[in-house]
Amino acid sequence: MQYDFDTVINREHTDALKWEPCILRDKFGEKDMLPLWVADMDFKAPQPVIDAIVKRAEHGIYGYTIRLKDYYDAIMEWTEKRHHWNVKKEWIVFTPGIVPAVNYMIQAYCLAGDKVMIQTPVYYPFGKAIANNGCQVVDNALLYDGRNYTIDFDDFEKKARDPRLKLFILCSPHNPIGRVWTKEELTRIGEICIANNVIVVADEIHHDLILEGHTHHVFANISKDLAKQSIICTAPSKTFNLAGLNTSNIIIPNKELRIRYEQVLENNSIWGQNPMSIDGMKAAYREGEPWLDALLLYLEENVRFMDNYLKDNLPCVKLIRPQATYLAWLDFTEVTTDDTLLEKLIFHDAKVALDGGTWFGETGSGFMRINFACPRRILQEALERITKSVSEYCQASRE
Ligand SMILES: Cc1ncc(COP(=O)(O)O)c(C=O)c1O
Repeated sequence: MQYDFDTVINREHTDALKWEPCILRDKFGEKDMLPLWVADMDFKAPQPVIDAIVKRAEHGIYGYTIRLKDYYDAIMEWTEKRHHWNVKKEWIVFTPGIVPAVNYMIQAYCLAGDKVMIQTPVYYPFGKAIANNGCQVVDNALLYDGRNYTIDFDDFEKKARDPRLKLFILCSPHNPIGRVWTKEELTRIGEICIANNVIVVADEIHHDLILEGHTHHVFANISKDLAKQSIICTAPSKTFNLAGLNTSNIIIPNKELRIRYEQVLENNSIWGQNPMSIDGMKAAYREGEPWLDALLLYLEENVRFMDNYLKDNLPCVKLIRPQATYLAWLDFTEVTTDDTLLEKLIFHDAKVALDGGTWFGETGSGFMRINFACPRRILQEALERITKSVSEYCQASRE
């Protein structure tokens, strides 16, 4: 079966956050931009998903909808098939999105003033969720050697010893730096968190998007002890481009932790689900696998294309080669360390919308994140525009 990821699909008039000119104007100060920012893809979902949603839509009645055995089976089958992880039905707790789930977890496991650890540069809603719920952000900043990122375990251990540190939010694979953590790294995280009674929230929303040569390990699947200490967040949203359907699987093997989490959902009356998301998710997990395998090949080719393009045309901008996700972290520090200037070059001169590096924390200064889940033609045009504006700036500053 041939899959078409090359066709450029017009997303105008679909209220797409990524493309809407009024959103771009508010966010970037420009409305006519090429958007390679927010994390959704410019590809259609797999055909079986579209068919399932159309069929459900044609039924015409969209009343209250509940999750039945088939829903849980689809999640369990997928998790077993792709990740060799045997999940029990009762471990799965529906939540309408992982970001809401992270907020609910802070409410479930922390008191005001408690501390929650993250690893910047990292997906920015984590820090916001911690602060919005009256807790303190503790940063175990990742170490950057000019090519790769690693974990500062001495700092991690020191911070984990603080009795007020209740949660650690692990981004696995990591957004935006694209690391797939090794089994050794995950095991060490687990050991430190167990020793210090820190609950690990493993946000694995990108874990189906592993690029060639890398192996992902579900945190809770490494050992029974790690399973007891952790909550695993998964979803079909990144994998199959279903983010707008607002569904996620919060998997909590530890009964005591699950009861506390479910109580917060109950307190907020979180239970109802969009019927489209139920049918869409089942079709994705049951029939979307060949599409996903083809998508991963296309994404890998986009990484190669971007890497070669930058090496040939703009070697002063370094691509941190992603091991997973469709997001890549670009190091502009050789061009400038002034983020206002960098934003001018990319947002206003090139008119390309990327996620600003400092959105991910101070450690993101001098970087930007590019979303390469788009037809290669769009990626090429974005790189050409960036090359032109950055080269002109470099040329002018030499003169
Ligand atoms: C690491 C990570 N977690 C969560 C989300 C969003 O999850 P949701 O849309 O389910 O709230 C994203 C989206 O980019 C993400 O990158």
